[in-house]
Amino acid sequence: MPDPALLDPQTEARVEALLNRMTLEEKIGQLVLENAFAPVDWAAVIAEQKLADETGRPFHLDLSESPTIVEHTRAGRVSAINSADLRINNRLQRVAREESRLGIPLLVGNDVIHGFRTIFPIPLAESCTWNPALLERASLAAASEAATMGINWIFAPMVDVARDPRWGRIAEGAGEDPYLGGLMAQARVRGFQSPNLPGGARISACPKHYVGYGAGEAGRDYNTVDLSERTLRDVHLPPFKAAFDAGAASTMSAFNEIGGVPGTCNAFLLRKVLREEWGWPGVVVSDFNSIGELVQHGVARDLREAARLSILAGVDIDMESGAYGRHLAQLVNDGSVPITVVNDSVRRVLRLKFSLGLFEHATIDEGLAAGQILRAEHRDLALEVARQSMVLLKNDGDVLPLAAQGLHVAVIGPLADDRADLLGTWAITGQSADVETVLEGFRSYLDPDRLSHVRGCAIEGEKPFEVDAAVATARAADVVVLVLGESAAMSGESHSRATLGLPGRQAALLDAVAATGKPLVVVLMCGRPLVVPALIEKADALLVAWHGGIRAGQAVADLVFGGANPSGKLTASWPRVEGQIPIYYAHKSTGRPADGAGTTQWHQPFRSTYLDVPTAPLFAFGEGLSYARFEFSALQVAERRLTDDGVLRVSAVVQNISHRAGVEVAQLYVRDLTGSVTRPVKELKGFHRVELGPGESRTVDFQVPVQSLGFHRLDLTFGVEPGEYRVWIGPDSTQGLEGEFEVVTEA
Ligand code: BGC
Repeated sequence: MPDPALLDPQTEARVEALLNRMTLEEKIGQLVLENAFAPVDWAAVIAEQKLADETGRPFHLDLSESPTIVEHTRAGRVSAINSADLRINNRLQRVAREESRLGIPLLVGNDVIHGFRTIFPIPLAESCTWNPALLERASLAAASEAATMGINWIFAPMVDVARDPRWGRIAEGAGEDPYLGGLMAQARVRGFQSPNLPGGARISACPKHYVGYGAGEAGRDYNTVDLSERTLRDVHLPPFKAAFDAGAASTMSAFNEIGGVPGTCNAFLLRKVLREEWGWPGVVVSDFNSIGELVQHGVARDLREAARLSILAGVDIDMESGAYGRHLAQLVNDGSVPITVVNDSVRRVLRLKFSLGLFEHATIDEGLAAGQILRAEHRDLALEVARQSMVLLKNDGDVLPLAAQGLHVAVIGPLADDRADLLGTWAITGQSADVETVLEGFRSYLDPDRLSHVRGCAIEGEKPFEVDAAVATARAADVVVLVLGESAAMSGESHSRATLGLPGRQAALLDAVAATGKPLVVVLMCGRPLVVPALIEKADALLVAWHGGIRAGQAVADLVFGGANPSGKLTASWPRVEGQIPIYYAHKSTGRPADGAGTTQWHQPFRSTYLDVPTAPLFAFGEGLSYARFEFSALQVAERRLTDDGVLRVSAVVQNISHRAGVEVAQLYVRDLTGSVTRPVKELKGFHRVELGPGESRTVDFQVPVQSLGFHRLDLTFGVEPGEYRVWIGPDSTQGLEGEFEVVTEA
C-alpha cells in the first residue's frame, strides 16, 4: 500500500469516482502503452534517418497516425503512447478526451535522454560535470522543448549504476557510483518535473531500469544479472530511492533477470521493496516488450502467462507487448488475477494523469514550440554543459591550452568534421544539422590560413585511409589535434563492445601522425571509457570530449584554446585492458589486497593481482585535470567521536597555486575499517565544485550525516556500525589528505 501521506485526498476522490464508472475493458485499457505509429515500417524510418545524416538535410518523421491507434484510443483500449509528434499527440488527445466514453487523456511518453532537439552531451558525460544544479537546468530545458510536442512522460533518467564499459548503455547513465548517481538522478527528476514548463505543462520523469540492468554479465546488453541482495541494496537501489525521494512519479522495470527472476515479474523488487518498504505510490511501466520477453526468459509459457506474472508482480503498464490488452480480461474473468490487483494499477495510472493536469489540458498549443525549440538559452546551456563535461586526462608540458595566435594547427581525424556522431546515442529527436563540428569551433579561434584539415580515415572500416596526406599536413603544422573515437552507434542500447580500442584504422593514423614528432593533442569522442593505452602514451595531451551534443565543437575549441578551463572529472574508471573489467574505485579489500603485503605461502607473497598488468585503472573515478593547479591542505575533522545520529564535519583548504582561474572538484571519501560484512575501500560521500582565481584559497566544509555512512549489515538491516573510519578530502579517488574518526554507541 502506498503511504497515505503521499496521496492527495482530492485526487483520490476523483480517481475513485472514475474507477467506479469503468468497465473491465476500460480498466485494462488504462494499462496499455502502444506506439502511436504502429504498425510502422521501421526499416524505412532508419533508412530515411541515415540519408538525412549523409546529406545533412533535416530528418522529419513524417508518418501519419495509424488508424489502429485512433480506433484503440476512441474505444478506451489504450492509456499511453510513445510519440514525439505534436500533430499526432494533439489529435489523439482530442480523440481520447472527446470521443472516448470516459474522456480519459493519454500519457505521451518519449525517450528524452539528453535533450529533445537541443541535444546535450550524453548522460555519462553530463555526470562528469559533477554539477547537479547545471544538470537540473539542462533537464528543464529538455523538458521545456519536449512539452511543446505534447510529451508528458519522459523515459529518463537512466539511473543504472554501470561498472562495465563494454555495456553500451553506460553512455546513458551517471557512471559507477551510487551516491553521485543518486544526486544526478534527483537533479534530472527535478528538472523534468519542474512546475515551470511552458504553457503550464507538466511532465513525469521515469527513472529506469528498475533494477540492476547495468550489472549484466560480460557487459552484454540484456544479459543475466546475479547480485547479492546486499549489493543490490547498497549499490543499485540507492539511485532509484534518491529519484523517488525527489518526487519521480513513475519507473520502468528492467529487461534483465536477477538471480533467476526477470525484473518485469519480480514481486520482491516491485512489491516488497517499492511498495511495502518504500511506500512509493508511483506507476511502474514495463520496458519495451519486456512482458512478452518473459517467454524467451523461460519463466512464462506464453503471452497470457507473461501477462499474469507481470501484473501480479506489480507492473502497471504494459509497454508494447500486447499481453495485457489480449489476455488480462480473461485472466480476471477466470480468477487468475484478482480484480483488486487491476484496480490498484488503474488507480496509480489515473492518479498520475490527474496530477499532471491532463484532464484540464491534454493538448498543447501549436505555437509553443517556436519559443522553446533550440532557443538561445538552451544552446548556451548545451555549450556550458559540454565544456564542463569534457575531461582533460593528460597535458604533458602544458601543451594545452594552445595559443590562438601564431600557431599553425592541423586538425586530423574522422570526427573532426563530423556532425551526426556528436549527437551520441539516444538522440532520436536531435538533428545532425544542428551540430557544430570541431573544425567550425576551431575557425572561431584561428584564421583560415593557420588551420588545415584532413580526415585521414573513417571511424570504422579500412577505407579511406589518407595517411600520406595526414602526415604531410601534420608536418607542415606546428601542432596536431587528432579527433578520434567511436561513432554514436557504437554505444547505446544493444550496442555493447568486447574490445574497447579505437575502431577502424584510427590507431594506424595515430601512429603515423605521432611519428612526425609534432606536439600531439588528442580529442577523444566516445560513449564509454575506452581502452587506449598506446594513444595515451603517444599523445602529449588528451581531452575526452565524449559525444558532446550540438555544441561539442565549440566546447572543444574553447577548451583547447583556453577560452574555457577544463573541470570535468571521470565518473567511470578507464581500464588499462578489457581483462580488468568490471573495474570501479569502491571495490572491496579482499583477504589479500593488491596493494598489501599479501600472505606468504611457499615463499611467495600471494596477492589479489594480475601477473601482466597492474590492478589499478589507467584513470580512476574522480580524475580530471585543469589548466590551473590546486593544492589541498589543513584537513580538519571537527569531532573524532560521533554517535550514529551525529554529523561528520570535515574541512580542508583548497588553494589555486597557479596563475589561471579554474574549478576544482573537492571530493570526500570515507572508509569503514571493520564491519559485520566487508566494506568498500573508499566511498564517495560528498563533493564541492570550487571556483578559484589565481592564488585564491577556500575552505571546503563537508557535513555528512553519520546515518549516510550506513549499509546493509550482516542481518540485512540498514544502519551504521560503531568502529573506526578513515576520511579523505582530495582531487580524486586515488589521493587526498587523510583523517580518522570513530563511530561510538554512546557519546
Ligand atoms: C529501452 C528503454 C526505452 C524504451 C522506450 C527500450 O528499448 O530499454 O530505455 O525507454 O525502449 O523507447
